[in-house]
Amino acid sequence: MKLIHVLNGPNLNLLGTREPSVYGRETLADIEGRLRQAAGAAGVEIIFRQSNHEGVLVDWIQEAGRIGAGVILNAGAYTHTSIALRDAIAGSGAHVIEVHLSNVHAREHFRHSSMISAVCRGVILGFGSLSYDLALQGLLAAAGKPKS
Ligand code: DQA
Repeated sequence: MKLIHVLNGPNLNLLGTREPSVYGRETLADIEGRLRQAAGAAGVEIIFRQSNHEGVLVDWIQEAGRIGAGVILNAGAYTHTSIALRDAIAGSGAHVIEVHLSNVHAREHFRHSSMISAVCRGVILGFGSLSYDLALQGLLAAAGKPKS
């Protein structure tokens, strides 16, 4: 896997100041910098994006599927609501790892269900910004291996 898209959904542009007791103090730019370093060391290119708009995320997932890029996706609140994102993952064949900073299962009930988990290659959550690093490792390790 030579190209990985890291896609971030609504409100993740606010990381650093958004509910720091839940999401920590690191900004999205901090996470991007760290992932770029780790990916570079593994010889992989990263495209790092954020949008507050569901349709834009759909377009980006389709694009990743078309070009065969792996995807690390934090869909934010759309995780819990978006059939469109689920269909984009299933329909494009994109190889997606779902990530969350927080342990959504230890939070409000409406965060306990995910529309996208069943069509993702794996799910990593609850490790703060480290969830992204772990997803990168998982995506690289799982590249080319069948789902189990
Ligand atoms: C989140 C969890 C979601 O429930 C929430 O809506 C977010 C962030 C996380 O990374 O923990 O925006 O995806």
